[in-house]
Amino acid sequence: HVDLNIALLGCGTVGSEVVRLLAEQSDDFAERCGARLNLIGIAVRDVSAPRPDHVPRELLTDDAESLIERADLVIELIGGLEPARTLILRALNSGASVVTGNKALLATHGPELHEATARADVDLYYEAAVAGAIPVVYALRESLAGDQVTAISGIVNGTTNYILDEMTTKALSYEAALADAQKLGFAEADPSADVDGLDAAAKIAIMASIAFHSRVGIDDVDTRGIREITAEQIAAATREGYVIKLLATARRAPNGITVQVAPTLVARTHPLASVSGAYNAVVTESEAAGRLMFYGQGAGGAPTASAVLSDVVAAAAKRVYGGHAPRELPYASLPVLPAASA
Ligand code: HSE
Repeated sequence: HVDLNIALLGCGTVGSEVVRLLAEQSDDFAERCGARLNLIGIAVRDVSAPRPDHVPRELLTDDAESLIERADLVIELIGGLEPARTLILRALNSGASVVTGNKALLATHGPELHEATARADVDLYYEAAVAGAIPVVYALRESLAGDQVTAISGIVNGTTNYILDEMTTKALSYEAALADAQKLGFAEADPSADVDGLDAAAKIAIMASIAFHSRVGIDDVDTRGIREITAEQIAAATREGYVIKLLATARRAPNGITVQVAPTLVARTHPLASVSGAYNAVVTESEAAGRLMFYGQGAGGAPTASAVLSDVVAAAAKRVYGGHAPRELPYASLPVLPAASA
């Protein structure tokens, strides 16, 4: 086996699960990708912050730059735009493959990152950026590469799905349901990225970019969150046979694509209506395959780490055996159309 040096940037909920799974499965991974995956360091902001016991203290460093210099493969799980953007660009430019779960960064600076990968002839993998464990990036990019996707719709934010569920099944107000979600650790103390639809907007922008080979950024998404949803609206929807879901949708239109995040009435008989709690689901429509539905855990440490590690194995195998990297098809210039007014 060859040795590949792996640097992990960030050690939160997902990062610490990546550390655990890498250690537990290192022999299996060596067989699967022909390389021994050596975790050489974990860059964190505060090396003295409390961490799970299985995280080796001697691997922690606050010097991400030096760590990246020694790495063949960099896993970025810091999140947010900076310093993640600068560190990923540094890694790509130094010839390392990068695996990231950073939806906000991809949906904001995706083209810049893809240009850097093309220039440096290295690869960027991001299965974990959309819907946690659900292999939807792979499905859109690889499984449907021979088809024409016409529409994507999904529940891609577990926090808002949980809040809307609580409002529906327990007749709670938005504020009470949000407080519950925060108590259970779903919603962040500052829940705005979730409840204002920005997390879902980043994810649908990434999916639309892949499915339509187009540049769709978070600013192209017509985005509405769930703050304004009232108990009365929920009760009225229930009476009429609907549930209210925060749906992210992208559609091929005659002269472009439309991309949107909005609270939507979903008929109780629709497959997305039964997606409850912190679960996510994505439905694709394509010309030849028809309708496909993907369902599973869209967040959380272990599920998201599963997606990260699938990319790590793919990146490592590519470095050892060569072969094709994930296909980044050339961007077309499909315009994003303004959302039709309701
Ligand atoms: N906060 C997100 C959610 C998970 O609630 O689904 C990370 O994207």
